[in-house]
Amino acid sequence: MLDLLVRQAILNDRPTPCDIACKDGRIIEIAPRIDAEAREIVDAGGCFVTPPFVDVHFHMDATLSLHGQPRRNESGTLLEGIALWSDLKPQQTAEKFKQRAKKLLTWSISRGILAIRTHVDTCDPSLMAVQVLLELREEMKTYVDLQLVAFPQDGYLRDPKAMEQTQKALDMGVDVVGGIPHFERTMAQGAESVRLLCELAAERGLMVDMHCDESDDPLSRHVESLALETVRLGLQGRVTGSHLTSMHSMDNYYISKLLPLMAEAQMHAVCNPLVNMVLQGRHDTYPKRRGLTRVKELLAAGINVCLGHDDVLDPWYPLGTHDMLEVAHMGIHALHMSGIGEMNELFNAVTTRSAAAMGLEGYGIQEGFNADMVVLQGRDPIEAIRLRGPRLAVIRRGQVLARSAPLASELILDGETTTVDFTLDSF
Ligand code: FE2
Repeated sequence: MLDLLVRQAILNDRPTPCDIACKDGRIIEIAPRIDAEAREIVDAGGCFVTPPFVDVHFHMDATLSLHGQPRRNESGTLLEGIALWSDLKPQQTAEKFKQRAKKLLTWSISRGILAIRTHVDTCDPSLMAVQVLLELREEMKTYVDLQLVAFPQDGYLRDPKAMEQTQKALDMGVDVVGGIPHFERTMAQGAESVRLLCELAAERGLMVDMHCDESDDPLSRHVESLALETVRLGLQGRVTGSHLTSMHSMDNYYISKLLPLMAEAQMHAVCNPLVNMVLQGRHDTYPKRRGLTRVKELLAAGINVCLGHDDVLDPWYPLGTHDMLEVAHMGIHALHMSGIGEMNELFNAVTTRSAAAMGLEGYGIQEGFNADMVVLQGRDPIEAIRLRGPRLAVIRRGQVLARSAPLASELILDGETTTVDFTLDSF
């Protein structure tokens, strides 16, 4: 007896719909027709079935704090967001943190996100958010993989307590070393913070994920420092550069030097199109810069590029429901990536590529892998991005965690009712 049988699933690597048999949390068979008894059956009905969405860049400590904020981020800049977060932090309690983070996870899971790498601010002396998110990582592990990044938000060198606090957070069990070199006082201090944090990660055998050059400054140079330290310390493949927005403004000749350095370091790159479209270019008049890193060029250089959501309803971003299809959708527009191959690549950037950056094991719809998948409305990744419909089924280890009805409207014209489902059959 199977635990779960998913019928008529369209998969990326198969020409015709398949059935997927799941037992003991694993996929045991994928074939055009499987005749076996199952405790539960999900009929995908010819819809596209994907491995779960992965949000490789998020801030769970600040999420859903929008309505409790003492004021709003009126300038819409990153720096006002950081200042607002500093004002907000002392008002938080462990209980509030946990309630907000847990509510966000109910949204994430319903949207088919089953792995999240979240940065957690380590500059708060009590490390309350660290403690809360460590508890939540354990409490929710049946449903979602949480990876925590120690993030010295006020600057590893700029904040006198940050070094000690970051060490403490790692001792408590935080998974990844973070940083924010562009927020240090000088370019030299930024480079020094990158060196110290990469050494810390190397000593502890941890991965690195740094907010790096999240500015419009064409002369910011912390990505090259990160690439240098990665190679010097033998951390290739274990380091992620997040945001990297200054790359949009850098001189093209310099970029032609930087991309090979990043490729040599096997660096993962994360672009956050929803949030950086809002935050960047705020000091520009016209024309205004888009503020996103050079995704096409990074991909062409062989670098693993991922897309992240970054924020939902917090000091940096006033919208969102934690939907990675929305992230890919914005990416297509803002990055000028509307070619068929490009749109498919941006779908990969919120699934397989992000799973690779996080080092997730058993990820993918293959025999022997985890029975984790999401049934999407649409026949392929591009239609799923276009519709951004509810996730028809979210499955983890062979258990259905969420179900939704497809996007549809009842249309009443001239007294006749028809159903509109926004799909396009050929005429
Ligand atoms: Fe971020």
